[in-house]
Amino acid sequence: MAAGFSVLFDVMHTTLWPYPKIVAHRGGGALAPENTLAALRCGLAHGFHAVEFDVMLSRDAVPVLMHDEQFGRTVSGTGSVPASSAAELAALDAGGWFGSAFAGEPVPTYAQAAAFCREQAIWMNVELKPAAGFEGATGRVAAALTRQLFAAELAAAPVDPCTVPLFSSFSFDALLAARAAAPEIPRGYLVETIPPDWRARLQACAAVALHVNHEMLTPDLAQQIKEAGFGLFCYTVNDPVRAHTLLAWGVDGFCTDRIDLIGADFPPAAAAG
Ligand code: G3P
Ligand code: MG
Repeated sequence: MAAGFSVLFDVMHTTLWPYPKIVAHRGGGALAPENTLAALRCGLAHGFHAVEFDVMLSRDAVPVLMHDEQFGRTVSGTGSVPASSAAELAALDAGGWFGSAFAGEPVPTYAQAAAFCREQAIWMNVELKPAAGFEGATGRVAAALTRQLFAAELAAAPVDPCTVPLFSSFSFDALLAARAAAPEIPRGYLVETIPPDWRARLQACAAVALHVNHEMLTPDLAQQIKEAGFGLFCYTVNDPVRAHTLLAWGVDGFCTDRIDLIGADFPPAAAAG
């Protein structure tokens, strides 16, 4: 493990963003119910081998794919993720809200999603999305499970970074806990707006990249972040013209809901030339 960590660390610091450039947001972007296995299948069917999804802990500390802490949007009812067991969550319908074709689609566990991605060679940007009060636990549990699920990939020499998830989170505490539990699994610090102390924050959680709302990025900030030696990732970019602009600023990658408009091979060769 120590050798694997060292190799991964070296790779990350010589290749600022060794990951795919275009990432399907919440599994299948706007084309499938977010954070479900159906969404992962949809992203894959559109040629995506890179995905972002959100991970939260159930009451019994099982990481599951879910964006909202409270029920009501993607699953009906009035409960919440931290008040429900993984078995209860698995029995909910996380697809019917999106369309009848997806009715009955369960809330997957992170382990199920990771197994699918591993099998299909899909790189994962795993957003740690802790319910309030569970920041440290979410980072710790997700990191420990990831270490277990990707033990073979982490033991390879050299480690292929695209075979191992990247954690990202708006929760600094979740990232610190993930780092403490499994330092060899890389982290991206996720922010809405870039704070003045971004450099110190990235260093404090030993992040390899800054992830930011693209609407809050400027060319000057992009340049500073790249010059400081960090990867730069944006969310959520749905306009191809904007996507071209961001890439021209030096942005390494972004996630998109419009996997129908912005393909995994964006920009297409003709446009890039
Ligand atoms: O990880 C980037 C993006 O997913 C963050 O926003 O609300 O879609 O999880 P959200
Ligand atoms: Mg997310």
